[in-house]
Amino acid sequence: MTEPNRTLWTRRNLLKSSVAVSASAALPAWLKAGQLASGFRVNVTGTDSLRAHAVSRGLLYGAAVNPLLLDVDGLAAGSTADPYTQLVVSQANIVVAENAMKWSALRPTPGVFNFAPADRLLRFAALAGQRVRGHNLCWHEQLPDWFNTTATRDNARNLLVEHIQTVAGRYKGQLHSWDVVNEAVDPKDARPDGLRNSPWLGLIGPDYIELAFQTAAATDPGARLTYNDYGFELDTADQTAKRGYVMMLLRRLKARNIPIHAVGVQSHLKAEGPQPGVGLQTFIREVRKMGLDVYITELDVNTRGLEGGPEAQDYAVAQVYRNYLGLVLPEPNVPVALTWGITDAHTWLNESKDQWARREDGARQRPLPFDDDLQPVPAFAALRTAIDSSRPLVAAPAAAPAVDPNTLYKPFRVQGSPTTSTQSPLPPTPHVE
Ligand code: XIL
Repeated sequence: MTEPNRTLWTRRNLLKSSVAVSASAALPAWLKAGQLASGFRVNVTGTDSLRAHAVSRGLLYGAAVNPLLLDVDGLAAGSTADPYTQLVVSQANIVVAENAMKWSALRPTPGVFNFAPADRLLRFAALAGQRVRGHNLCWHEQLPDWFNTTATRDNARNLLVEHIQTVAGRYKGQLHSWDVVNEAVDPKDARPDGLRNSPWLGLIGPDYIELAFQTAAATDPGARLTYNDYGFELDTADQTAKRGYVMMLLRRLKARNIPIHAVGVQSHLKAEGPQPGVGLQTFIREVRKMGLDVYITELDVNTRGLEGGPEAQDYAVAQVYRNYLGLVLPEPNVPVALTWGITDAHTWLNESKDQWARREDGARQRPLPFDDDLQPVPAFAALRTAIDSSRPLVAAPAAAPAVDPNTLYKPFRVQGSPTTSTQSPLPPTPHVE
């Protein structure tokens, strides 16, 4: 896993990349002041971790994970040598299952629930002192195959209610939040309310959303209930329109006194595309007036349309992280941000064969703070800097530990993970409400 001849993030490397050539005249301060002059070397452990920095600002930072990749038994025994497990423990204070809590994963047949992978995540997070998000209770995608032939207008309400009671009931009192309804808005379906023509809408009608939230609230009153969606981050005409329909839905729910606490902004951004701006900022402030938080739930940066090598990708991706999180994290009602994965080794952008994920040059995407070898990339520095500049310190920053540069990457030791008793304890999990 360790790469002895790892490319150093020197200024020269950046200048070689096509994107960096145009942008090089103005290397941003957070990169210039970082490690570029001597190569991209940054300590990511202990008090230098994303987790420690998030804790010091009263924020939750985390990532989507596949519970089956986590060495939970090793963690429990205090002896995991698995670098991915160590990375997730050391960097995140909140996690979410990338797939394990979706209908298709939980319900192989109508009468059988498979909770094993989701339970595993809960056990992992408890050992690591992390919060857990639930994703998700009601969505039009990743429904099991049997759904199409089994769900009818007569039984759909019961099916939805029973599912939420069973799943949210199992994890009652243990979750930070639930994505109760995912992606219910799609203006392309041209309904006056902007709702998507999803199976749930067809079977139950538009009130399926109210039903889902009410059932979730009755089942797990402690979880923060979230409406989660994508494609309303930008100020393009399409996304501005979608943002308006999301707002319409939120106003409807509030007017009906439906228990909802947060809006999840997925934040699947594109390196080469337009970036979020004042429209999203205004939206965040508007929903704050309605008493709602905003969670950044699935941040990653797609470089499909970006020419250039890995350096160009890393530079552009880092700039998107910096600009985007610099825009949203200072808002007081944005207490949570998760990336959709934490390492390029495990991201849907490298796993999907679909056109929207594939680069023309066939290169792997680099959308996350750690690369395929679990080494930090400039997006790590961008993310940590954005956390630091988001709000005042709530906990005194501990002095950065002395670091021997020669041991930074050999092996990838994660201070703060409970792998050895000589390492410092995990930072406390913040209380964020
Ligand atoms: C994606 C997962 O990352 C993939 O592994 C899976 O094949 C498809 O779903 N919006 C969401 C997430 O709410 O659940 C999706 O996750 C990404 C888009």
